[in-house]
Amino acid sequence: MTMIVAIDGLAASGKSSLAQAIAKKCSLFYVDSGSFYRFITYRLLCEGISPDQHDAICSFLPMVRFHYRTARHFWKGRDVSEALRSSAIDELVSGVARIGLVRKKINRTVRHLVKHKPAVVEGRDIGTVVFPKADLKIFLLASEEARIARRNQQRQEWGHSAERECVKKNIRLRDQIDSEREIAPLVPATDAVIIDTSQLTLEETVARGCKLVQECWKKHG
Ligand code: DC
Repeated sequence: MTMIVAIDGLAASGKSSLAQAIAKKCSLFYVDSGSFYRFITYRLLCEGISPDQHDAICSFLPMVRFHYRTARHFWKGRDVSEALRSSAIDELVSGVARIGLVRKKINRTVRHLVKHKPAVVEGRDIGTVVFPKADLKIFLLASEEARIARRNQQRQEWGHSAERECVKKNIRLRDQIDSEREIAPLVPATDAVIIDTSQLTLEETVARGCKLVQECWKKHG
Protein backbone atom coordinates (compact mmCIF):
# COMPACT_ATOMS: atom_id res chain seq x y z
CA MET A 1 0.00 0.00 0.00
CA THR A 2 1.22 3.54 -0.72
CA MET A 3 1.54 6.08 2.06
CA ILE A 4 -1.77 7.17 3.59
CA VAL A 5 -2.29 10.08 5.95
CA ALA A 6 -5.68 9.83 7.68
CA ILE A 7 -7.22 12.98 9.13
CA ASP A 8 -10.37 12.59 11.20
CA GLY A 9 -12.22 14.87 13.55
CA LEU A 10 -15.33 16.74 14.57
CA ALA A 11 -17.36 18.91 12.17
CA ALA A 12 -15.52 22.16 11.38
CA SER A 13 -12.46 21.21 13.43
CA GLY A 14 -10.20 22.25 10.54
CA LYS A 15 -9.80 18.88 8.76
CA SER A 16 -10.23 20.21 5.22
CA SER A 17 -7.87 23.15 5.63
CA LEU A 18 -5.20 20.92 7.15
CA ALA A 19 -5.65 18.08 4.67
CA GLN A 20 -5.55 20.40 1.66
CA ALA A 21 -2.47 22.20 2.95
CA ILE A 22 -0.67 18.90 3.62
CA ALA A 23 -1.65 17.62 0.16
CA LYS A 24 -0.21 20.75 -1.47
CA LYS A 25 2.98 21.02 0.57
CA CYS A 26 3.78 17.31 0.53
CA SER A 27 2.48 16.56 -3.01
CA LEU A 28 -0.10 14.03 -1.83
CA PHE A 29 -3.39 13.18 -3.53
CA TYR A 30 -6.30 14.68 -1.57
CA VAL A 31 -9.59 12.94 -0.84
CA ASP A 32 -12.41 14.54 1.13
CA SER A 33 -14.52 11.52 2.04
CA GLY A 34 -17.28 13.70 3.57
CA SER A 35 -17.95 15.18 0.14
CA PHE A 36 -18.97 11.69 -1.08
CA TYR A 37 -21.59 11.45 1.69
CA ARG A 38 -22.72 14.91 0.66
CA PHE A 39 -22.87 13.92 -3.01
CA ILE A 40 -25.11 10.91 -2.27
CA THR A 41 -27.32 13.13 -0.08
CA TYR A 42 -27.53 15.65 -2.94
CA ARG A 43 -28.58 12.97 -5.42
CA LEU A 44 -31.20 11.65 -2.96
CA LEU A 45 -32.57 15.17 -2.49
CA CYS A 46 -32.83 15.60 -6.26
CA GLU A 47 -34.76 12.30 -6.42
CA GLY A 48 -37.06 13.29 -3.54
CA ILE A 49 -35.83 10.37 -1.37
CA SER A 50 -35.47 11.15 2.35
CA PRO A 51 -32.75 9.65 4.61
CA ASP A 52 -35.28 7.45 6.45
CA GLN A 53 -36.41 5.67 3.25
CA HIS A 54 -33.77 2.96 3.59
CA ASP A 55 -35.21 0.61 0.98
CA ALA A 56 -35.53 3.37 -1.61
CA ILE A 57 -31.96 4.49 -0.85
CA CYS A 58 -30.56 0.98 -1.21
CA SER A 59 -32.32 0.53 -4.57
CA PHE A 60 -31.10 3.92 -5.77
CA LEU A 61 -27.46 3.53 -4.65
CA PRO A 62 -26.25 1.39 -7.59
CA MET A 63 -27.34 4.25 -9.89
CA VAL A 64 -24.98 6.69 -8.19
CA ARG A 65 -21.69 7.12 -10.02
CA PHE A 66 -19.04 9.44 -8.68
CA HIS A 67 -17.17 11.84 -10.95
CA TYR A 68 -14.52 13.21 -8.59
CA ARG A 69 -11.81 15.31 -10.25
CA THR A 70 -9.35 17.66 -8.51
CA ALA A 71 -11.37 17.40 -5.30
CA ARG A 72 -14.60 18.45 -7.06
CA HIS A 73 -17.77 16.50 -7.75
CA PHE A 74 -19.45 16.58 -11.16
CA TRP A 75 -22.91 15.44 -12.12
CA LYS A 76 -24.23 15.49 -15.69
CA GLY A 77 -21.07 17.42 -16.60
CA ARG A 78 -21.78 20.18 -14.07
CA ASP A 79 -19.57 20.99 -11.08
CA VAL A 80 -21.92 20.56 -8.09
CA SER A 81 -19.28 20.94 -5.35
CA GLU A 82 -20.67 24.23 -4.05
CA ALA A 83 -24.21 22.86 -3.92
CA LEU A 84 -22.96 20.04 -1.68
CA ARG A 85 -22.39 22.67 1.05
CA SER A 86 -26.00 23.87 1.26
CA SER A 87 -27.76 23.89 4.63
CA ALA A 88 -30.29 21.32 3.34
CA ILE A 89 -27.42 18.88 2.87
CA ASP A 90 -25.80 19.88 6.18
CA GLU A 91 -29.05 18.87 7.85
CA LEU A 92 -29.52 15.52 6.13
CA VAL A 93 -26.03 14.17 5.52
CA SER A 94 -25.42 12.59 8.95
CA GLY A 95 -28.66 10.60 8.59
CA VAL A 96 -27.51 9.27 5.22
CA ALA A 97 -24.06 8.48 6.63
CA ARG A 98 -25.62 6.08 9.16
CA ILE A 99 -26.65 3.67 6.42
CA GLY A 100 -24.31 0.69 6.12
CA LEU A 101 -24.64 0.28 2.35
CA VAL A 102 -23.84 3.94 1.78
CA ARG A 103 -20.71 3.62 3.90
CA LYS A 104 -19.68 0.44 2.08
CA LYS A 105 -19.98 2.09 -1.32
CA ILE A 106 -18.00 5.17 -0.27
CA ASN A 107 -15.28 3.17 1.50
CA ARG A 108 -14.79 1.05 -1.61
CA THR A 109 -14.58 4.16 -3.81
CA VAL A 110 -12.12 5.94 -1.53
CA ARG A 111 -9.84 2.88 -1.25
CA HIS A 112 -9.89 2.52 -5.03
CA LEU A 113 -9.07 6.21 -5.59
CA VAL A 114 -5.86 6.04 -3.55
CA LYS A 115 -4.78 2.56 -4.56
CA HIS A 116 -1.67 3.71 -6.40
CA LYS A 117 -1.15 7.18 -4.98
CA PRO A 118 0.29 8.46 -1.71
CA ALA A 119 -2.66 10.38 -0.30
CA VAL A 120 -4.16 12.39 2.50
CA VAL A 121 -7.74 11.36 3.24
CA GLU A 122 -10.04 13.26 5.59
CA GLY A 123 -13.26 12.10 7.22
CA ARG A 124 -14.69 10.59 10.37
CA ASP A 125 -13.61 6.95 10.24
CA ILE A 126 -10.55 7.03 8.01
CA GLY A 127 -8.03 5.98 10.67
CA THR A 128 -10.38 3.51 12.36
CA VAL A 129 -12.23 1.78 9.49
CA VAL A 130 -11.24 2.86 5.99
CA PHE A 131 -7.46 2.75 6.48
CA PRO A 132 -6.79 1.14 9.88
CA LYS A 133 -3.17 0.66 8.79
CA ALA A 134 -2.66 4.28 7.67
CA ASP A 135 0.95 5.40 8.06
CA LEU A 136 -0.09 8.51 9.97
CA LYS A 137 -3.35 9.25 11.75
CA ILE A 138 -4.27 12.72 12.93
CA PHE A 139 -7.43 13.45 14.92
CA LEU A 140 -8.49 17.09 15.22
CA LEU A 141 -10.37 18.59 18.13
CA ALA A 142 -11.52 22.17 18.64
CA SER A 143 -13.87 23.94 21.02
CA GLU A 144 -17.45 24.41 19.89
CA GLU A 145 -16.96 28.20 19.76
CA ALA A 146 -13.95 27.93 17.47
CA ARG A 147 -15.76 25.48 15.21
CA ILE A 148 -18.87 27.64 14.89
CA ALA A 149 -16.76 30.67 13.99
CA ARG A 150 -14.85 28.70 11.34
CA ARG A 151 -17.95 27.15 9.81
CA ASN A 152 -19.60 30.59 9.61
CA GLN A 153 -16.62 31.95 7.75
CA GLN A 154 -16.51 28.94 5.42
CA ARG A 155 -20.20 29.22 4.62
CA GLN A 156 -19.73 32.85 3.64
CA GLU A 157 -16.80 31.89 1.42
CA TRP A 158 -18.95 29.20 -0.23
CA GLY A 159 -21.65 31.81 -0.90
CA HIS A 160 -24.19 30.33 1.55
CA SER A 161 -25.89 32.29 4.32
CA ALA A 162 -24.40 31.83 7.77
CA GLU A 163 -26.88 32.22 10.59
CA ARG A 164 -24.93 31.59 13.80
CA GLU A 165 -27.69 29.75 15.72
CA CYS A 166 -28.42 27.46 12.75
CA VAL A 167 -24.73 26.66 12.30
CA LYS A 168 -24.42 25.89 16.03
CA LYS A 169 -27.48 23.65 16.03
CA ASN A 170 -26.28 21.79 12.96
CA ILE A 171 -22.74 21.26 14.25
CA ARG A 172 -24.06 19.91 17.58
CA LEU A 173 -26.54 17.60 15.95
CA ARG A 174 -24.07 16.24 13.39
CA ASP A 175 -21.40 15.62 16.05
CA GLN A 176 -23.95 13.74 18.11
CA ILE A 177 -25.24 11.59 15.24
CA ASP A 178 -21.71 10.95 13.87
CA SER A 179 -20.35 10.00 17.31
CA GLU A 180 -23.27 7.87 18.45
CA ARG A 181 -24.08 5.92 15.28
CA GLU A 182 -23.77 2.16 15.38
CA ILE A 183 -21.54 1.73 12.33
CA ALA A 184 -18.12 3.41 12.28
CA PRO A 185 -18.79 6.08 14.92
CA LEU A 186 -16.50 9.08 15.11
CA VAL A 187 -13.79 8.14 17.62
CA PRO A 188 -10.04 8.71 17.51
CA ALA A 189 -8.00 5.66 16.54
CA THR A 190 -5.93 4.49 19.50
CA ASP A 191 -2.75 5.30 17.55
CA ALA A 192 -3.89 8.74 16.31
CA VAL A 193 -1.99 11.93 17.09
CA ILE A 194 -4.56 14.27 18.64
CA ILE A 195 -4.29 17.98 17.90
CA ASP A 196 -6.55 20.53 19.58
CA THR A 197 -6.77 23.40 17.10
CA SER A 198 -8.89 25.78 19.26
CA GLN A 199 -5.98 28.04 20.04
CA LEU A 200 -3.94 27.42 16.90
CA THR A 201 -3.87 29.46 13.71
CA LEU A 202 -4.18 27.55 10.45
CA GLU A 203 -0.46 28.11 9.83
CA GLU A 204 0.42 26.58 13.20
CA THR A 205 -1.85 23.59 12.62
CA VAL A 206 -0.39 23.07 9.14
CA ALA A 207 3.16 23.34 10.49
CA ARG A 208 2.41 20.60 13.06
CA GLY A 209 0.73 18.41 10.48
CA CYS A 210 3.54 18.79 7.93
CA LYS A 211 6.16 18.00 10.57
CA LEU A 212 4.32 14.76 11.38
CA VAL A 213 4.15 13.88 7.68
CA GLN A 214 7.89 14.53 7.20
CA GLU A 215 8.71 12.28 10.16
CA CYS A 216 6.42 9.65 8.73
CA TRP A 217 8.05 9.90 5.24
CA LYS A 218 11.45 9.27 6.87
CA LYS A 219 10.17 6.14 8.61
CA HIS A 220 8.40 5.00 5.45
CA GLY A 221 11.75 5.19 3.63
O1 DC B 1 -16.68 16.40 6.62
P1 DC B 1 -18.10 16.79 6.23
O2 DC B 1 -18.73 17.74 7.20
O3 DC B 1 -18.21 17.27 4.84
O4 DC B 1 -18.91 15.41 6.33
C1 DC B 1 -20.29 15.35 6.08
C2 DC B 1 -20.90 14.19 6.84
O5 DC B 1 -20.48 12.97 6.26
C3 DC B 1 -20.59 14.10 8.31
O6 DC B 1 -21.56 14.72 9.10
C4 DC B 1 -20.57 12.62 8.60
C5 DC B 1 -20.31 11.98 7.27
N1 DC B 1 -18.99 11.38 7.15
C6 DC B 1 -18.83 10.12 7.65
O7 DC B 1 -19.74 9.58 8.27
N2 DC B 1 -17.65 9.47 7.47
C7 DC B 1 -16.63 10.04 6.82
N3 DC B 1 -15.48 9.37 6.63
C8 DC B 1 -16.77 11.36 6.32
C9 DC B 1 -17.96 12.02 6.52
